[in-house]
Amino acid sequence: MKTYKSMKLLSMLLAATLLFSSCGNANEAAVSGENNTDSTVESVEEVKELSLEEAKEIYLNKDLPVDERIAALLSVMTLEEKAFQCVQGEQASVSVSDVKNTGIGSVLSGGGSAPTTGNNPTDWQNRVNELKAAALETRLGIPLLYGIDAVHGNNNIYGATVFPHNIGLGAANDPELMEEIGHVVAKEVRAVGVQYSFTPCLANPQNERWGRTYEGFSEKAEDVAKLAGPYVAALQGNVKDNDYMPEDAIIACAKHFIGEGYTENGKNQGDVKMTPEEFDELLSMGVLDPYKACVDNNVLTVMPSYNSINGLKCHENHHLLTEVLKEQLGFKGMVISDYNAIGQCKGTYDEQVANCFNAGVDMFMEAQNWEGCAKTIVKLVNDGKISEERLNDAVSRILRVKFMSNMFEEEINSAHENELLAEFGSEANREVARKAVRESLVLLKNGDVNGSLALDAIKEATNITLCGTAAYDIGRQCGGWTIAWEGRTGNITKGTPIIQAIYDEVKDHAAVSHSVNGKLDKASDLIITVVGENPYSETGGDTTPTGLKPVSADGRVLEAVEESIAENGNDPLKVLIVIAGRPINITEYVDKYDAVVMAFLPGTEGEGISDVLFGDYDFTGTLPMTWVKDPENVNDKFSLPESEILFSYGFGLNKAGEALTRN
Ligand code: GLC
Repeated sequence: MKTYKSMKLLSMLLAATLLFSSCGNANEAAVSGENNTDSTVESVEEVKELSLEEAKEIYLNKDLPVDERIAALLSVMTLEEKAFQCVQGEQASVSVSDVKNTGIGSVLSGGGSAPTTGNNPTDWQNRVNELKAAALETRLGIPLLYGIDAVHGNNNIYGATVFPHNIGLGAANDPELMEEIGHVVAKEVRAVGVQYSFTPCLANPQNERWGRTYEGFSEKAEDVAKLAGPYVAALQGNVKDNDYMPEDAIIACAKHFIGEGYTENGKNQGDVKMTPEEFDELLSMGVLDPYKACVDNNVLTVMPSYNSINGLKCHENHHLLTEVLKEQLGFKGMVISDYNAIGQCKGTYDEQVANCFNAGVDMFMEAQNWEGCAKTIVKLVNDGKISEERLNDAVSRILRVKFMSNMFEEEINSAHENELLAEFGSEANREVARKAVRESLVLLKNGDVNGSLALDAIKEATNITLCGTAAYDIGRQCGGWTIAWEGRTGNITKGTPIIQAIYDEVKDHAAVSHSVNGKLDKASDLIITVVGENPYSETGGDTTPTGLKPVSADGRVLEAVEESIAENGNDPLKVLIVIAGRPINITEYVDKYDAVVMAFLPGTEGEGISDVLFGDYDFTGTLPMTWVKDPENVNDKFSLPESEILFSYGFGLNKAGEALTRN
């Protein structure tokens, strides 16, 4: 219901907006001192700006369209207020008084950046909400946007439900499952007052030497589009353009725009050795589709990639950020730079800010130098190096995100938020993750054992030995982006280790023991060796071809198992489970084991593995990446002869030994 007063205000505002936008360059011209004879330039000064109270009547009124609320708020913002809306600082570098005094637009917690009070959900809720409350004490009361990396659940926080990493979800290849996961992740993020996650990653990794391979769903962009679209829709509650999100939804971020999986040698933040024309051709062949799918689902933010194309960093690439993303795809949300990424661009800091801003970056994740960045923006606008029009466009995009996510109506520390907090890491939430684990497993070998299939024969085992530390290590199960930025081995959070899950499943008919070093006693009739990678993230995970293998300790376990069996002179059933963020070199062991399972990085719910291995569930997963026999060939994996491929993209078996079809 619009009262007369607001209608009258609206007509004034719309007049101002029309004039303002029709001579968007007026200020630029005026600032640059050009002789602009455009008659509207003088009339801009004549338009009566709304008073703060008049503007608040509009921008605080959720009954009014988002665009009108943006225009009203923009019309009363000072240059400084606009500039500070365009920066995001890391929480360890932002105090409550900083928020009150500067009106900073956003704060993030980088990977593993927990409150100083501790890493429990309530620690996070208190920290996030004290910063949000401070923003409401500023002159305009523009709410604070708080962002985190909920890469596979609200993974920084102790006790969160931690899902399989994206590569495992790519093996599951189930859009409906992605929706279920999205709803749970959104609730466990909202539970601590956070409104925004820098996810999903839309990479389609071409080379598993890349340390972020596991953050990609698949080597094929069409798979990524199929999974990321529904995931973003679920995270954001299917929000429609210019509309408002429902409760329990969060702001998503399609990242990293674009081409990160194509760098030379899989180098993280490296260069894609293609000309702009060749890269545009690659985009048109499907690599842009995941972003189109997310924009079509109204993704509210996009993060450029650290990588460069032909030597030009994505963060300063106007063609990609403005012409392709904002104009061709019609993206109306905000582009947020990656963590201190603009510092990798060419020139002085002023030039980095100006070039990235003018290329299309709207919010700057300048973790420590956020205040310096805001002041640089002010200087650049005053010097005419950033136009008022570009600044207003950036701020409008940021405000659109804040309005559409109900931030202006958000009640801090609400009763509903605390209801969600009570469900943080709940059994119900973990059941969704357990289902995701089941669907993410890929059966790579199901050999013949005395006339029956290995996955049938294991049910008869009465003395099971699990070998290797990964059988009992939640940290290894979860991988990077868990509790700590790069993850950690050990009992790092609540969850079910693989050995516990298997024990619970078989304890009524079999004994279960753990051999950390692979030494076996004669009685074991089933050996389950669990090997793979230790946690890593980003550049820390970049590796050489020879690095694509089980960690050294696991290599020794594999050898010890063979030696023990030889010494014991028996012939137990042998199952190999791989816990890794990518295809690794297990070629020589495929022949030595009766069954081989790729579990990727399953997260906290190890029962998903026992459900399938010993329970009533079957394998349904298929490989989202081509697996080479010899990692020395990984750079050329797509031009290798079939004989050099260990397992093809799309390969997977079921318990009956049938090849599954990846649809
Ligand atoms: C990191 C990552 C990005 C993440 C951001 C904030 O460097 O590249 O994926 O969202 O910083 O943690």
